[in-house]
Amino acid sequence: EEDRRRQLLKVLDMAAKLYHHLLLQHEHGEEARRYLLQRGLTMETIREFQLGYAPDSYQFLLPFMRRRGFDETLLVEAGLAAEKETAAGRNRVYDRFRGRVMFPIHDTQGNVVGFGGRILGDGRPKYLNSPETSLFHKGRHLFNLHRARKSMRKEQQALLFEGYMDVIAAWQAGIRSGIASLGTSLTEEQARVIRRNAETAVICYDSDAAGQTAAERGLDVLKDQGCIVKVAQMPAGLDPDDYIRKYGADAFRGDVIAQALPYTAFKLEALKKGINLQDEPQRMKYLTKALDVIADLPLAIERDHYLRRLSEEFHVSLDALKQEQRVIASKKK
Ligand code: GTP
Ligand code: MN
Ligand code: MN
Ligand code: MN
Ligand code: MN
Repeated sequence: EEDRRRQLLKVLDMAAKLYHHLLLQHEHGEEARRYLLQRGLTMETIREFQLGYAPDSYQFLLPFMRRRGFDETLLVEAGLAAEKETAAGRNRVYDRFRGRVMFPIHDTQGNVVGFGGRILGDGRPKYLNSPETSLFHKGRHLFNLHRARKSMRKEQQALLFEGYMDVIAAWQAGIRSGIASLGTSLTEEQARVIRRNAETAVICYDSDAAGQTAAERGLDVLKDQGCIVKVAQMPAGLDPDDYIRKYGADAFRGDVIAQALPYTAFKLEALKKGINLQDEPQRMKYLTKALDVIADLPLAIERDHYLRRLSEEFHVSLDALKQEQRVIASKKK
């Protein structure tokens, strides 16, 4: 059992090294190398993240590993090979990752436990991740955690991104507390890990609708684990990687991270979506929902702060808002 685990770790580590070697040294990796450089990564960053290239072949990694004494079953268990039954009823085993830029994913100890693979240019799926294995659990690991942990602890702040490239672009720009969930929505388990390493979590998802919906969900998952949560606002059409390349790291720090909206402010903004605030009945409906959010806040000083803001924004008396809120709070009990 322990032996099997060691073998799996070994084969994953060897695969990462092989893919990395191909990207750096081999003619097979030339297109991928050009692709990454054109996306603004430096060779130093490519080395730091041990990025790699999986050749566009069904039989590349498998024979390579077989020659080194690793059997097919082990490669399937590691998530590096897949298995399919042919029409003749025979099992065919083949390389899972083909023609992709490879992003190794580590556990907290820094062992490679899986990969994300990006297609060069367009094509579907854009990213292919390792399947769930005995070592790799999408809901548990966070991309780059083993590198970011030190900085997260020191700054007591985690930056949660959507994509691998966002984390890497931020890192290259000197922002070292970036992590990402693995192509799925943030789980309770991941939020707990984040809380153990930092007090505050800043969600820096893409500015598109998918990113904002994910942010609304992640917000509560993180808050439920005791994080102070903020949500960064990105200009339309950009993700953090695009933003950093366009405006630079200082702008990202000063205008995006430092201006991130606190939990409640973000919630109150998100509630405005699809509501016409010029329309009186809709405005009242918004106020009622906003009061409901405020009523949930644990601290009286926080409730007071947001009630005052609402009062100013909508020109209604603070007394009226407080009165309404008492009604809402008593209904909640
Ligand atoms: P780039 O186009 O390389 O900049 O990718 P991105 O990170 O900006 O990708 P996007 O915003 O589309 O998606 C964010 C993250 O979601 C990616 O890093 C992946 O982890 C995941 N993801 C995106 N597309 C797919 C997909 O087709 N399949 C899977 N499983 N995950 C995906
Ligand atoms: Mn699992
Ligand atoms: Mn996205
Ligand atoms: Mn991107
Ligand atoms: Mn993106």
